[in-house]
Amino acid sequence: MKFQNRQFQNFDLEYFQSQFERTVEINLADSSVKCANVSDLLAGEDPRPLLELPLYYPEVNGTGLLRERIAALYPNASAANVLVTVGAAQANWMVCSTLLEQGDEVIVVSPGYRQVWGLAKNLGCHVKEAQLRPENNWRLDVNELESLASPRTKLISIVNPNNPTGSILSREEMARIVNLCRKTGAWLHADEVYRGTELNGNETPSFWGMYDRAICVNSMSKAYGLAGLRIGWAVAAPEMIEELWRRHEYAVIAASGPSMVLAEFALQPAKRQALLDRQKKFSREGHTVLENWVRAQEGRFSVSPAVATSIAFVQYHFDMPSTELADHIRRKVSVLVAPGSALGTEHHLRVAVGYEPQKIKTALVRIGGVAAELAGAAAVR
Ligand SMILES: Cc1ncc(COP(=O)(O)O)c(C=O)c1O
Repeated sequence: MKFQNRQFQNFDLEYFQSQFERTVEINLADSSVKCANVSDLLAGEDPRPLLELPLYYPEVNGTGLLRERIAALYPNASAANVLVTVGAAQANWMVCSTLLEQGDEVIVVSPGYRQVWGLAKNLGCHVKEAQLRPENNWRLDVNELESLASPRTKLISIVNPNNPTGSILSREEMARIVNLCRKTGAWLHADEVYRGTELNGNETPSFWGMYDRAICVNSMSKAYGLAGLRIGWAVAAPEMIEELWRRHEYAVIAASGPSMVLAEFALQPAKRQALLDRQKKFSREGHTVLENWVRAQEGRFSVSPAVATSIAFVQYHFDMPSTELADHIRRKVSVLVAPGSALGTEHHLRVAVGYEPQKIKTALVRIGGVAAELAGAAAVR
């Protein structure tokens, strides 16, 4: 059934996950750590704010307490700088629907989460991609970004730390990106959902406060391991928050009330720290398991040293499209990993490592078996 003229760009990564994640034995296509449960969050707390919460429509822009707790994470921000959304995904969508019009030029980084890439395409924008490369440990070449930008650039979208590579911008690189935005007049969209997942424990600075046209997005999903809350936020100048809020009313009215109360619990300083520590433990152990496995794979796979996030972007050194390989692994050994093509880069698989080490080991042994079989078949041919 054809109902519109322009070709709709699916969100390939999320589509791939939603088709298969419930039917495999081991799902490593996700991008959070093993998520905490409600009783973890309520441990040591008086549960009454949750249990006695009247289920009216909640505050549309987010509860006052939650906005204050979020604002406290950003120097000199107040609750007026915050809009609470249904995950970072909704915040990203609000940013695009507020700022972008047909014909606008947008720059994104590739490989990437591809949400802004797809949204911008669906809005009829001209999307340019700054390419990260494994031989450069996936670091952004800011010179390349500068060469892509022009006075027509409406939005530069940066994910820092990056999904799927975990690479982190230095302060100097961040300053150069801000200067570039200033020079061209572009808005800066900073998706910072992986702040707090740095394996060395040094939290990546936010772009907040560096540029008045920056919109910083974050959520409870990654660093805190609470993806099921579906709570995210945008932090920006109050005038921009008002603009995003007008779109938010159309999209969802408000985020879920019980989820906002749980997020209030989670962002109390001691609980927040415990959640961050929990997440880092899973990620560090998982990356070690994965790196040891890669070393034992006789050159069939390689990976850059892990820096942040609970995902690894693993290159494979045999000739097969990544959707075919991910599909083959799923069918043969019931393990789901994300194909690099859905993140904009072929011959890679994105593997989530933030689960119990034994689970990661079991999945990797299965993937290794499939790869050995494929390599054997190629050698016979
Ligand atoms: C870079 C990035 N931004 C946004 C999201 C969406 O996150 P949320 O669960 O907060 O909607 C993801 C999820 O994978 C992501 O990787």
